[in-house]
Amino acid sequence: MISLSDLRKFKAQGRKFSCLTCYDASMAKAMEVAEIDTILVGDSLGMTIQGCDSTLPVTVQDMAYHTAAVRRGNQHAFILTDLPFMSYATLNDALISAKQVMQAGAHMVKIEGGAWLAETVQVLTRNGIPVCVHLGLTPQSVHVFGGYKVQARTREAADQLIADCKAVVDAGAAVLLLECVPAQVGKEISELFPHTPVIGIGAGADTDGQVLVVQDMLGLTGGHVAKFVRNFMKEQAGETAILDAFKAYHAAVQDQSFPAKEQTFQVEL
Ligand code: KIV
Repeated sequence: MISLSDLRKFKAQGRKFSCLTCYDASMAKAMEVAEIDTILVGDSLGMTIQGCDSTLPVTVQDMAYHTAAVRRGNQHAFILTDLPFMSYATLNDALISAKQVMQAGAHMVKIEGGAWLAETVQVLTRNGIPVCVHLGLTPQSVHVFGGYKVQARTREAADQLIADCKAVVDAGAAVLLLECVPAQVGKEISELFPHTPVIGIGAGADTDGQVLVVQDMLGLTGGHVAKFVRNFMKEQAGETAILDAFKAYHAAVQDQSFPAKEQTFQVEL
């Protein structure tokens, strides 16, 4: 099983690591077979699993439930779990929430924010809970940002982001995750912290790891698709491979070619 020290070793070696979001055991098993290095049980499950229009309605109980399922399905990847909206607003809340997801099987918690999280990071780390801090575009603050926009687009804003990264790394953050920042900023931050693996999503090719929402890279996300997404399903199996399987199943049930003899139990009665 991949550990935090493996991620640090990968960074030192310049070996980039993969991360995908995952919310259930069967997908987690497929990711084990594919040797995906790290899994994020993301609060994006609010959209991908629950059909909400943001991550805000997701609860700690939801995160613990999906973390347990993922952990049962995968014995290979390092598992990060999001603490959802308002579940770490106070130090006490952070401890109680982190306890739940760690006991469900997470190896690390992820929280969204900046320098103001330093004390939270310190307290969680002191209690044996490794922390990833998510910076740049932080979806739990979508209403503060006024939409999903690229962050750190000026030198001043990039320097502010770097100062936030420094504050949380000094407080003990073991991993950083950067979302929607210019590639130069992703590179600069990854180089600035030699012992802290940096995961990117829409942060360019120079971060130490990359993460994608699994539904996005399988082409299962309807509506607007972000610029940083690549549809690997389209490249490997054809854009509509999963939909084609559903359609073929529906047709086979209707024309009674499914179930065939091979899928049927028969006995002499
Ligand atoms: O919840 C999530 O899936 C995330 C990714 C977008 C990084 O935080």
